[in-house]
Amino acid sequence: MSAAQARLSAVSGQLSASHPQGLLAGQTAIVTGAAQGIGRACAVLFAQEGAKVVVSDLDEGKAKAVVEEIKKAGGTAIAVGGDVTADDFPKKLVNATVESFGEINILVNMAGFTADRMLHTTPDDMFELMLKVHNTAPFRLIKEVAPHMRSKDPKDRNKNRSIINISSTSGLHGNVGQANYATAKAGVVGLTKTVAKEWGPFGVRCNTVAFGYITTRLTQAKELGETIEVNGKKIPLGIPGRGSHAQTDSDRVPDIPLGRPGSPEEGAAACLFLASDLASYVSGHTLEVTGGRGI
Ligand SMILES: NC(=O)c1ccc[n+]([C@@H]2O[C@H](COP(=O)([O-])OP(=O)(O)OC[C@H]3O[C@@H](n4cnc5c(N)ncnc54)[C@H](O)[C@@H]3O)[C@@H](O)[C@H]2O)c1
Repeated sequence: MSAAQARLSAVSGQLSASHPQGLLAGQTAIVTGAAQGIGRACAVLFAQEGAKVVVSDLDEGKAKAVVEEIKKAGGTAIAVGGDVTADDFPKKLVNATVESFGEINILVNMAGFTADRMLHTTPDDMFELMLKVHNTAPFRLIKEVAPHMRSKDPKDRNKNRSIINISSTSGLHGNVGQANYATAKAGVVGLTKTVAKEWGPFGVRCNTVAFGYITTRLTQAKELGETIEVNGKKIPLGIPGRGSHAQTDSDRVPDIPLGRPGSPEEGAAACLFLASDLASYVSGHTLEVTGGRGI
């Protein structure tokens, strides 16, 4: 465990002591893209903090393994497999959530991936797919949760309701080889701010988390050969020539003031802040979780 991770875990311990039932006690949270990486870390952390978690992912097998891990630790979770871009997905996910847990407090639109190419060689359909995964899918899911979150019923007034959409430094600043991903991740910010304005009067908060370099398969060496298959396309993941995350030192990430990449758990901690009542007066914000990169 790194020193930063040890400090994070100590803080979680202190929070648990001051909130014995957890910061999300009794609440229901949907996390898409929760089978691995930052989404998995969110699902596990939210469950530790007392949430009933819907672990959703394209990879249903891995999602089920996360559910087992949560249950083993005494938490509550269900798995819902599926592709966020599928026409019937929003209904399937929301129905499964409401059938199991009766309500929805938190939605984290985490599912996503990169499909890097220089702009002039990016096929049109790959550009469209990036918009579909990162913009259309969250839009359709937010629309589907509307009847459960966008309530003016006075009994819901005091309920925590929080939506978190995921962006990237590429969306805020652009990035070579990522015209498709950067465009989509910039769109996330506009979607978030609009939901914050339209649903704020109903007591719903909506925020963006923009990650920098977090150690997941998206940011590991492309040479490791990880791929994802979406809409019938097999897409290679990773950064060419990156080496292993473990070897990443400050010399290799000179643009990150903290001198290191972040862990999925550090990414999840930022999401917990925005998901919980700790951020009860924060809406429409873009929280950059980047170790200071891009300032
Ligand atoms: N890792 C980083 O440094 C970084 C930086 C900026 C933004 N992000 C964003 O954070 C989010 C999580 O990424 P990660 O790094 O944890 O990646 P990851 O590959 O470890 O996890 C992403 C998960 O999303 C799932 N997923 C992808 N497409 C899906 C689809 N169409 N339907 C359902 N599930 C799907 C994958 O199966 C996977 O389990 C993504 O939106 C990504 O764009 C990550």
